[in-house]
Amino acid sequence: MTRKVRGRRIQSLGSRFFVALSVTLLVVAAAIFVVSGVVGPMIFHAHLAQADLSDPTTVVMHAEEAFQFASTISLAVGIVIAVAVAMLVFGYLASRMNASLSRLESAATSIADGDYAVRLPRLDIGSEFEALGVAFNDMTQRLQTTEETRRRLLSDLAHELRTPIATIQAQVDGIEDGVVTAETSLPVLSSQVARLTRLSEDVVLLSRAEEHALSFEFEVGSVGDLVAETVDSLALRYRGKGVALHLDRRPTPDVVIDRARLGQVIANLLTNALTATAPGGSVHVSVANPDADHVSIEVRDTGIGIAAEQLPHLFERFYRVDQARDRDHGGFGIGLTIARAIVDGHHGRITAASNGPGTGAAFTILLPTVG
Ligand SMILES: Nc1ncnc2c1ncn2[C@@H]1O[C@H](COP(=O)(O)OP(=O)(O)O)[C@@H](O)[C@H]1O
Ligand SMILES: [Mg+2]
Repeated sequence: MTRKVRGRRIQSLGSRFFVALSVTLLVVAAAIFVVSGVVGPMIFHAHLAQADLSDPTTVVMHAEEAFQFASTISLAVGIVIAVAVAMLVFGYLASRMNASLSRLESAATSIADGDYAVRLPRLDIGSEFEALGVAFNDMTQRLQTTEETRRRLLSDLAHELRTPIATIQAQVDGIEDGVVTAETSLPVLSSQVARLTRLSEDVVLLSRAEEHALSFEFEVGSVGDLVAETVDSLALRYRGKGVALHLDRRPTPDVVIDRARLGQVIANLLTNALTATAPGGSVHVSVANPDADHVSIEVRDTGIGIAAEQLPHLFERFYRVDQARDRDHGGFGIGLTIARAIVDGHHGRITAASNGPGTGAAFTILLPTVG
Protein backbone atom coordinates (compact mmCIF):
# COMPACT_ATOMS: atom_id res chain seq x y z
CA MET A 1 0.00 0.00 0.00
CA THR A 2 1.27 3.48 -0.84
CA ARG A 3 0.20 6.86 0.46
CA LYS A 4 0.69 10.38 -0.87
CA VAL A 5 2.78 12.63 1.41
CA ARG A 6 3.30 16.19 0.09
CA GLY A 7 2.71 15.01 -3.48
CA ARG A 8 5.06 11.99 -3.30
CA ARG A 9 3.84 8.39 -3.31
CA ILE A 10 5.50 6.53 -0.45
CA GLN A 11 5.20 2.90 0.58
CA SER A 12 3.63 2.40 4.00
CA LEU A 13 5.48 0.84 6.93
CA GLY A 14 2.91 -1.98 7.04
CA SER A 15 3.56 -2.94 3.42
CA ARG A 16 7.33 -2.77 4.00
CA PHE A 17 6.89 -5.30 6.84
CA PHE A 18 4.73 -7.43 4.56
CA VAL A 19 7.41 -7.41 1.85
CA ALA A 20 10.15 -8.23 4.40
CA LEU A 21 8.13 -11.14 5.78
CA SER A 22 7.36 -12.47 2.28
CA VAL A 23 11.04 -12.27 1.27
CA THR A 24 12.06 -14.11 4.45
CA LEU A 25 9.50 -16.88 3.94
CA LEU A 26 10.49 -17.28 0.27
CA VAL A 27 14.19 -17.54 1.15
CA VAL A 28 13.38 -20.06 3.90
CA ALA A 29 11.24 -22.17 1.56
CA ALA A 30 13.97 -22.07 -1.11
CA ALA A 31 16.65 -22.99 1.45
CA ILE A 32 14.68 -25.95 2.78
CA PHE A 33 13.87 -27.08 -0.75
CA VAL A 34 17.52 -26.91 -1.87
CA VAL A 35 18.91 -28.55 1.27
CA SER A 36 16.39 -31.37 1.40
CA GLY A 37 16.45 -31.93 -2.37
CA VAL A 38 20.23 -31.77 -2.94
CA VAL A 39 22.11 -32.15 0.34
CA GLY A 40 19.74 -34.74 1.92
CA PRO A 41 20.02 -37.37 -0.85
CA MET A 42 23.82 -36.85 -0.97
CA ILE A 43 24.17 -37.58 2.74
CA PHE A 44 21.75 -40.48 2.42
CA HIS A 45 23.74 -41.90 -0.45
CA ALA A 46 27.14 -41.48 1.23
CA HIS A 47 25.87 -43.16 4.38
CA LEU A 48 24.42 -46.14 2.52
CA ALA A 49 27.62 -46.54 0.49
CA GLN A 50 29.55 -47.25 3.71
CA ALA A 51 27.19 -50.11 4.64
CA ASP A 52 27.77 -53.76 3.82
CA LEU A 53 24.89 -54.39 1.42
CA SER A 54 25.48 -58.18 1.26
CA ASP A 55 23.91 -58.58 4.71
CA PRO A 56 20.11 -57.89 4.34
CA THR A 57 19.57 -57.34 8.12
CA THR A 58 22.10 -54.46 8.26
CA VAL A 59 20.76 -52.92 5.01
CA VAL A 60 17.46 -51.91 6.69
CA MET A 61 19.29 -50.63 9.77
CA HIS A 62 21.72 -48.56 7.65
CA ALA A 63 18.91 -47.25 5.45
CA GLU A 64 16.98 -46.05 8.55
CA GLU A 65 20.13 -44.49 10.04
CA ALA A 66 20.98 -42.76 6.71
CA PHE A 67 17.44 -41.41 6.38
CA GLN A 68 17.37 -40.06 9.94
CA PHE A 69 20.83 -38.50 9.61
CA ALA A 70 20.03 -36.92 6.22
CA SER A 71 16.68 -35.46 7.32
CA THR A 72 18.08 -34.11 10.64
CA ILE A 73 21.00 -32.42 8.86
CA SER A 74 18.70 -30.95 6.12
CA LEU A 75 16.27 -29.61 8.69
CA ALA A 76 19.06 -28.14 10.85
CA VAL A 77 20.69 -26.41 7.87
CA GLY A 78 17.28 -25.12 6.69
CA ILE A 79 16.45 -23.71 10.15
CA VAL A 80 19.87 -22.06 10.50
CA ILE A 81 19.47 -20.34 7.10
CA ALA A 82 15.88 -19.31 7.92
CA VAL A 83 16.84 -17.78 11.28
CA ALA A 84 19.87 -16.00 9.75
CA VAL A 85 17.76 -14.50 6.91
CA ALA A 86 14.95 -13.44 9.27
CA MET A 87 17.48 -11.81 11.63
CA LEU A 88 19.16 -9.98 8.75
CA VAL A 89 15.97 -8.67 7.16
CA PHE A 90 14.19 -7.66 10.37
CA GLY A 91 17.43 -6.42 11.96
CA TYR A 92 17.84 -4.10 8.95
CA LEU A 93 14.24 -2.85 9.27
CA ALA A 94 14.60 -2.37 13.04
CA SER A 95 17.84 -0.41 12.65
CA ARG A 96 16.21 1.87 10.05
CA MET A 97 13.28 2.45 12.43
CA ASN A 98 15.67 3.08 15.31
CA ALA A 99 17.61 5.66 13.30
CA SER A 100 14.40 7.44 12.29
CA LEU A 101 13.02 7.45 15.83
CA SER A 102 16.26 8.77 17.30
CA ARG A 103 16.28 11.59 14.70
CA LEU A 104 12.72 12.39 15.76
CA GLU A 105 13.67 12.23 19.44
CA SER A 106 16.67 14.54 19.07
CA ALA A 107 14.59 17.06 17.07
CA ALA A 108 11.87 17.01 19.77
CA THR A 109 14.55 17.51 22.46
CA SER A 110 15.96 20.54 20.58
CA ILE A 111 12.48 22.06 20.43
CA ALA A 112 11.96 21.41 24.14
CA ASP A 113 15.24 23.31 24.67
CA GLY A 114 13.83 26.27 22.70
CA ASP A 115 15.61 25.74 19.37
CA TYR A 116 12.73 26.19 16.91
CA ALA A 117 15.01 26.36 13.87
CA VAL A 118 15.47 22.59 13.88
CA ARG A 119 13.83 20.65 11.05
CA LEU A 120 13.39 16.91 10.73
CA PRO A 121 15.21 15.34 7.75
CA ARG A 122 13.30 12.79 5.67
CA LEU A 123 12.42 9.71 7.75
CA ASP A 124 13.00 7.11 5.05
CA ILE A 125 10.88 4.43 6.65
CA GLY A 126 7.38 4.35 5.31
CA SER A 127 4.63 6.82 4.57
CA GLU A 128 3.39 6.92 8.20
CA PHE A 129 6.76 8.24 9.38
CA GLU A 130 7.00 10.55 6.37
CA ALA A 131 3.60 12.09 7.25
CA LEU A 132 4.69 12.38 10.89
CA GLY A 133 7.84 14.22 9.74
CA VAL A 134 5.84 16.65 7.62
CA ALA A 135 3.38 17.36 10.48
CA PHE A 136 6.30 17.77 12.89
CA ASN A 137 8.03 20.31 10.63
CA ASP A 138 4.77 22.24 10.13
CA MET A 139 4.37 22.42 13.91
CA THR A 140 7.96 23.61 14.38
CA GLN A 141 7.51 26.26 11.70
CA ARG A 142 4.44 27.60 13.49
CA LEU A 143 6.21 27.60 16.85
CA GLN A 144 9.12 29.48 15.30
CA THR A 145 6.86 32.13 13.77
CA THR A 146 4.93 32.61 17.01
CA GLU A 147 8.14 32.87 19.00
CA GLU A 148 9.64 35.45 16.61
CA THR A 149 6.41 37.51 16.70
CA ARG A 150 6.38 37.38 20.50
CA ARG A 151 10.04 38.43 20.74
CA ARG A 152 9.62 41.35 18.31
CA LEU A 153 6.41 42.43 20.01
CA LEU A 154 8.14 42.51 23.40
CA SER A 155 11.07 44.57 22.12
CA ASP A 156 8.73 47.02 20.29
CA LEU A 157 6.67 47.29 23.43
CA ALA A 158 9.69 47.99 25.63
CA HIS A 159 10.62 50.72 23.15
CA GLU A 160 7.14 52.30 23.36
CA LEU A 161 7.15 52.19 27.16
CA ARG A 162 10.40 54.10 27.39
CA THR A 163 9.01 57.59 26.51
CA PRO A 164 6.07 57.76 28.96
CA ILE A 165 8.15 56.19 31.71
CA ALA A 166 11.00 58.65 31.14
CA THR A 167 8.51 61.54 31.24
CA ILE A 168 6.99 60.31 34.49
CA GLN A 169 10.46 59.75 35.95
CA ALA A 170 11.52 63.31 35.01
CA GLN A 171 8.42 64.78 36.67
CA VAL A 172 8.93 62.73 39.84
CA ASP A 173 12.62 63.77 39.98
CA GLY A 174 11.56 67.41 39.46
CA ILE A 175 9.12 67.22 42.39
CA GLU A 176 11.76 65.55 44.59
CA ASP A 177 14.33 68.23 43.75
CA GLY A 178 11.76 70.99 44.28
CA VAL A 179 12.20 72.20 40.67
CA VAL A 180 8.51 71.65 39.79
CA THR A 181 5.46 71.58 42.00
CA ALA A 182 3.09 68.67 42.26
CA GLU A 183 0.28 70.82 40.81
CA THR A 184 2.14 71.68 37.62
CA SER A 185 3.31 68.14 37.01
CA LEU A 186 -0.04 66.52 37.78
CA PRO A 187 -1.55 67.06 34.29
CA VAL A 188 1.62 65.66 32.68
CA LEU A 189 1.64 62.68 35.01
CA SER A 190 -2.03 61.88 34.48
CA SER A 191 -1.79 62.19 30.68
CA GLN A 192 1.19 59.82 30.62
CA VAL A 193 -0.65 57.36 32.89
CA ALA A 194 -3.65 57.55 30.54
CA ARG A 195 -1.28 56.87 27.64
CA LEU A 196 0.15 53.81 29.37
CA THR A 197 -3.35 52.55 30.13
CA ARG A 198 -4.34 52.92 26.48
CA LEU A 199 -1.16 51.16 25.40
CA SER A 200 -1.82 48.21 27.70
CA GLU A 201 -5.37 47.83 26.31
CA ASP A 202 -4.21 48.11 22.69
CA VAL A 203 -1.38 45.64 23.20
CA VAL A 204 -3.80 42.97 24.43
CA LEU A 205 -5.80 43.42 21.20
CA LEU A 206 -2.65 43.57 19.09
CA SER A 207 -1.21 40.34 20.45
CA ARG A 208 -4.54 38.57 19.88
CA ALA A 209 -4.68 40.00 16.37
CA GLU A 210 -1.14 38.83 15.59
CA GLU A 211 -1.91 35.32 16.80
CA HIS A 212 -5.09 35.40 14.70
CA ALA A 213 -6.97 34.85 17.94
CA LEU A 214 -9.34 37.83 17.90
CA SER A 215 -12.83 36.75 18.87
CA PHE A 216 -15.76 38.00 16.80
CA GLU A 217 -19.47 38.20 17.44
CA PHE A 218 -20.90 38.26 13.94
CA GLU A 219 -24.41 39.26 12.97
CA VAL A 220 -26.05 40.31 9.73
CA GLY A 221 -26.38 44.08 9.86
CA SER A 222 -26.31 47.42 8.11
CA VAL A 223 -22.89 48.96 7.56
CA GLY A 224 -24.55 52.30 6.82
CA ASP A 225 -26.18 52.40 10.29
CA LEU A 226 -22.90 51.51 11.97
CA VAL A 227 -20.95 54.20 10.08
CA ALA A 228 -23.65 56.80 10.82
CA GLU A 229 -23.50 55.98 14.57
CA THR A 230 -19.71 56.26 14.59
CA VAL A 231 -19.79 59.55 12.66
CA ASP A 232 -22.30 60.90 15.22
CA SER A 233 -20.15 59.83 18.16
CA LEU A 234 -17.16 61.77 16.79
CA ALA A 235 -19.02 64.84 15.53
CA LEU A 236 -18.30 66.85 18.66
CA ARG A 237 -14.54 66.34 18.41
CA TYR A 238 -14.60 67.36 14.75
CA ARG A 239 -16.56 70.49 15.58
CA GLY A 240 -14.13 71.24 18.39
CA LYS A 241 -11.19 71.26 15.96
CA GLY A 242 -13.06 73.02 13.18
CA VAL A 243 -12.93 70.16 10.67
CA ALA A 244 -16.05 69.48 8.60
CA LEU A 245 -17.39 65.92 8.63
CA HIS A 246 -19.71 64.71 5.85
CA LEU A 247 -21.47 61.41 5.43
CA ASP A 248 -22.64 60.19 2.03
CA ARG A 249 -24.69 57.10 2.53
CA ARG A 250 -26.04 55.02 -0.37
CA PRO A 251 -28.42 52.09 0.14
CA THR A 252 -26.35 48.92 0.63
CA PRO A 253 -27.23 45.28 1.21
CA ASP A 254 -26.69 43.89 4.72
CA VAL A 255 -23.37 42.22 5.45
CA VAL A 256 -21.96 39.97 8.18
CA ILE A 257 -20.30 42.23 10.75
CA ASP A 258 -19.10 42.38 14.32
CA ARG A 259 -20.58 45.77 15.21
CA ALA A 260 -18.26 46.53 18.11
CA ARG A 261 -15.06 45.60 16.30
CA LEU A 262 -15.93 47.17 12.95
CA GLY A 263 -17.14 50.29 14.79
CA GLN A 264 -13.70 50.46 16.40
CA VAL A 265 -12.04 50.32 12.96
CA ILE A 266 -14.22 53.14 11.57
CA ALA A 267 -13.62 55.23 14.71
CA ASN A 268 -9.87 54.77 14.25
CA LEU A 269 -10.03 55.88 10.61
CA LEU A 270 -12.07 58.93 11.60
CA THR A 271 -9.67 59.79 14.45
CA ASN A 272 -6.65 59.40 12.17
CA ALA A 273 -8.30 61.63 9.56
CA LEU A 274 -9.06 64.25 12.21
CA THR A 275 -5.47 64.17 13.48
CA ALA A 276 -4.14 64.57 9.92
CA THR A 277 -6.44 67.42 8.98
CA ALA A 278 -5.90 71.04 9.98
CA PRO A 279 -8.80 73.28 11.10
CA GLY A 280 -10.77 74.39 8.04
CA GLY A 281 -10.21 71.07 6.31
CA SER A 282 -12.83 68.37 5.76
CA VAL A 283 -13.37 64.63 5.96
CA HIS A 284 -15.81 62.78 3.68
CA VAL A 285 -17.17 59.41 4.69
CA SER A 286 -19.07 57.35 2.13
CA VAL A 287 -20.83 54.02 2.27
CA ALA A 288 -21.60 52.46 -1.11
CA ASN A 289 -22.17 49.27 -3.05
CA PRO A 290 -19.44 49.43 -5.76
CA ASP A 291 -20.32 45.98 -7.15
CA ALA A 292 -22.76 43.16 -6.40
CA ASP A 293 -20.28 41.36 -4.13
CA HIS A 294 -19.04 44.23 -1.95
CA VAL A 295 -20.02 47.04 0.35
CA SER A 296 -17.42 49.80 0.67
CA ILE A 297 -16.65 52.31 3.40
CA GLU A 298 -14.36 55.17 2.43
CA VAL A 299 -12.87 57.84 4.71
CA ARG A 300 -11.29 60.63 2.65
CA ASP A 301 -9.61 63.65 4.20
CA THR A 302 -7.99 66.87 2.99
CA GLY A 303 -5.14 66.53 5.49
CA ILE A 304 -1.36 66.19 5.41
CA GLY A 305 -1.39 63.22 3.04
CA ILE A 306 1.02 60.29 2.95
CA ALA A 307 4.20 59.87 0.87
CA ALA A 308 4.18 56.91 -1.53
CA GLU A 309 7.06 55.17 0.29
CA GLN A 310 5.16 55.31 3.61
CA LEU A 311 1.94 53.79 2.26
CA PRO A 312 3.01 50.13 2.39
CA HIS A 313 4.11 50.46 6.05
CA LEU A 314 1.01 52.11 7.53
CA PHE A 315 -0.49 48.80 8.64
CA GLU A 316 2.68 47.59 10.39
CA ARG A 317 2.48 47.73 14.15
CA PHE A 318 3.98 50.75 15.95
CA TYR A 319 4.46 52.44 12.58
CA ARG A 320 3.92 56.20 12.54
CA VAL A 321 4.91 58.46 9.71
CA ASP A 322 6.36 60.99 12.09
CA GLN A 323 7.89 58.69 14.70
CA ALA A 324 9.59 61.38 16.80
CA ARG A 325 6.59 63.72 17.08
CA ASP A 326 3.95 61.04 17.44
CA ARG A 327 5.84 59.08 20.08
CA ASP A 328 5.32 61.93 22.52
CA HIS A 329 1.83 63.06 21.56
CA GLY A 330 0.07 60.84 19.06
CA GLY A 331 -1.18 57.28 19.11
CA PHE A 332 1.00 54.20 19.17
CA GLY A 333 0.73 53.22 15.53
CA ILE A 334 -1.28 50.14 16.50
CA GLY A 335 -4.72 51.28 15.30
CA LEU A 336 -4.30 50.37 11.63
CA THR A 337 -2.61 47.03 12.50
CA ILE A 338 -5.64 46.05 14.57
CA ALA A 339 -7.94 47.49 11.88
CA ARG A 340 -6.42 45.23 9.24
CA ALA A 341 -6.75 42.16 11.50
CA ILE A 342 -10.41 42.98 12.18
CA VAL A 343 -11.19 43.57 8.49
CA ASP A 344 -9.38 40.31 7.63
CA GLY A 345 -11.61 38.61 10.22
CA HIS A 346 -14.57 39.88 8.16
CA HIS A 347 -12.98 38.42 4.97
CA GLY A 348 -12.66 41.99 3.73
CA ARG A 349 -9.82 44.28 2.64
CA ILE A 350 -8.58 47.64 3.86
CA THR A 351 -6.35 49.85 1.72
CA ALA A 352 -4.78 53.28 1.98
CA ALA A 353 -4.28 55.76 -0.85
CA SER A 354 -2.75 59.22 -1.15
CA ASN A 355 -1.22 61.32 -3.91
CA GLY A 356 1.53 62.42 -1.55
CA PRO A 357 2.17 64.95 1.22
CA GLY A 358 -0.34 67.80 1.29
CA THR A 359 -2.89 66.06 -0.90
CA GLY A 360 -4.98 64.30 1.74
CA ALA A 361 -5.51 60.57 2.12
CA ALA A 362 -8.26 57.99 1.63
CA PHE A 363 -8.80 54.72 3.46
CA THR A 364 -11.18 52.16 1.97
CA ILE A 365 -12.71 49.05 3.50
CA LEU A 366 -14.34 46.46 1.22
CA LEU A 367 -16.63 43.91 2.87
CA PRO A 368 -18.15 40.91 1.09
CA THR A 369 -21.94 40.86 0.84
CA VAL A 370 -23.95 37.91 2.15
CA GLY A 371 -24.47 35.00 -0.26
N1 LIG B 1 -5.59 59.96 7.28
C1 LIG B 1 -4.26 59.93 7.45
N2 LIG B 1 -3.47 60.87 6.88
C2 LIG B 1 -2.13 60.86 7.05
N3 LIG B 1 -1.46 59.93 7.76
C3 LIG B 1 -2.19 58.96 8.35
C4 LIG B 1 -3.62 58.90 8.23
N4 LIG B 1 -4.06 57.82 8.90
C5 LIG B 1 -2.97 57.25 9.44
N5 LIG B 1 -1.84 57.92 9.12
C6 LIG B 1 -0.47 57.58 9.51
O1 LIG B 1 -0.44 56.21 9.84
C7 LIG B 1 0.08 56.03 11.15
C8 LIG B 1 -0.51 54.83 11.80
O2 LIG B 1 -1.87 55.00 12.13
P1 LIG B 1 -2.48 54.14 13.30
O3 LIG B 1 -2.07 52.74 13.12
O4 LIG B 1 -3.93 54.44 13.43
O5 LIG B 1 -1.69 54.65 14.56
P2 LIG B 1 -1.85 55.96 15.46
O6 LIG B 1 -3.16 56.57 15.08
O7 LIG B 1 -1.82 55.40 16.79
O8 LIG B 1 -0.67 56.80 15.14
C9 LIG B 1 -0.22 57.33 11.85
O9 LIG B 1 0.70 57.54 12.88
C10 LIG B 1 -0.05 58.35 10.73
O10 LIG B 1 1.31 58.67 10.61
MG1 LIG C 1 -5.00 55.65 14.91
